[in-house]
Amino acid sequence: MSLSISKILTMTPSDEVVSVNGWVRTKRSSKNVSFVALNDGSTIRNLQLVVDTEKGYEGVTEEVMALVTTGASISASGKLVASQGSGQAVELLCEKITVIGIADPEEYPLQPKKHSLEFLREIGHLRFRTNVFGAILRVRHALTFAIHKFFNDRGFFNIHTPIITGSDCEGAGEMFRVTTLPDQNPPLTDDGHVDFSKDFFGKATNLTVSGQLEAELAATALSKVYTFGPTFRAENSNTSRHLAEFWMIEPEVAFADIKDNMDLAEEFLKYLIGYALENCVDDMEFLSKRYAEEEKLKPQAERDEMSLIEKLEFVRKNSFERVTYTQAIEILMNCPMNKKKKFQYPVERWGIDLQSEHERYLVEKHFKKPVIVTDYPKECKAFYMRANTDGKTVAAMDILVPGVGEIIGGSQREERYEQLKQRAEEFKIPQESIWWYLDIRKFGSVVHSGFGLGFERLLMFVTGMGNVRDVSPFPRTPKTAEF
Ligand code: 4AD
Ligand code: MG
Repeated sequence: MSLSISKILTMTPSDEVVSVNGWVRTKRSSKNVSFVALNDGSTIRNLQLVVDTEKGYEGVTEEVMALVTTGASISASGKLVASQGSGQAVELLCEKITVIGIADPEEYPLQPKKHSLEFLREIGHLRFRTNVFGAILRVRHALTFAIHKFFNDRGFFNIHTPIITGSDCEGAGEMFRVTTLPDQNPPLTDDGHVDFSKDFFGKATNLTVSGQLEAELAATALSKVYTFGPTFRAENSNTSRHLAEFWMIEPEVAFADIKDNMDLAEEFLKYLIGYALENCVDDMEFLSKRYAEEEKLKPQAERDEMSLIEKLEFVRKNSFERVTYTQAIEILMNCPMNKKKKFQYPVERWGIDLQSEHERYLVEKHFKKPVIVTDYPKECKAFYMRANTDGKTVAAMDILVPGVGEIIGGSQREERYEQLKQRAEEFKIPQESIWWYLDIRKFGSVVHSGFGLGFERLLMFVTGMGNVRDVSPFPRTPKTAEF
């Protein structure tokens, strides 16, 4: 059997013949010797193949070597020897090379040179083969695993909440409809609207925007649960931080208040950062170098003074700043940016929604570290957040990080039946659509809290990528659902 390159690179030279499969990254030839950099995605590192056509190996011919070009898939076997060159400890002295699939150099778009991330998005089917996407996808995998490990180690149960739902968790009303009704002449009600009682589920249904409401049901029985699934938002926001389809991690904990919730969220983020730094060393080093190169292109004043790894180490080792919305507004109202009218949305009064420019000012310029903002005006947040005693704010918490802005949104939930019912009415949420959500407040209701971490936002932060489209293998955004 052939071995993965990540495994081979840990082995010591020996007389045993090893086989390897992969895709050619580059080929350099001089007289009778060629050096082929082979990659199989198991690691960012390439295995160097040394092909000496004068050594008399029958399995390596000029004809075959002519087809060994960037992008071709090949199988190679030979002995592992100590490398003559610098850059790698071992290399494979090839005795046989078979070309599995050719890649015509005239047509193959991924030639060994620097391609822009925008160009790579256009060739989303091939960008997996670049160093940067390989690194991101391996980190994405490692963090998926770490998320399950974190919760499993702490006695949480994973709950699969539905993807098709009849309720609108966030109350934002921007959802993708799920229907099997015909698009021409659908059945209509007497008042001329589409009659969803004739639809597949007998009611209007959508793709979920969050698994929270269902996770709350499970938390009021299993105490500590979490969801990790795809969520969908039909907002027409074409920004570098929004996807129409993204993955969210949503823990929900019974008998936990907003303070417990903040502590859990902070511990969780630090754990995930630490996991990536410790388990994805090669990829993180590559991404850190890439980040430094990107920063160099920015004007001095906007440049990150820390390397990506330094920044993550800093976040991991220091406590997050915790401020109320009211404190945050005061800082923003009095800051030089606001006074010089440099914000697109000036901060003029208590009660405004924090825009991403404000969030970024707080973390990047003012505190220079992650910030947890709590107790937002109730008008800014969802109906299910617990009302504070001041009558104006709710027990919300958002975590903001440098370079990304909001990475986590969460709250202590309104566990009091009457209060919640009234809030739902104020938000014009029909009771029949969330009767079950209200019902759990009638029977053994408990203080409980939870939050949602946007997985792609986390990946942007950990990998230092500036656009959410580049941390998702198949990004869905307005007007793009290719691949
Ligand atoms: O703040 P949000 O909307 O909160 C919720 O959905 C709650 N139900 C979570 C909970 O309390 N269980 O979304 C949570 C996080 C955001 O902080 C952000 O990281 C991410 O999800 N997010 C998005 N990520 C990518 N694209 C989008 N369009 C996103 N919208 C939210
Ligand atoms: Mg939010």
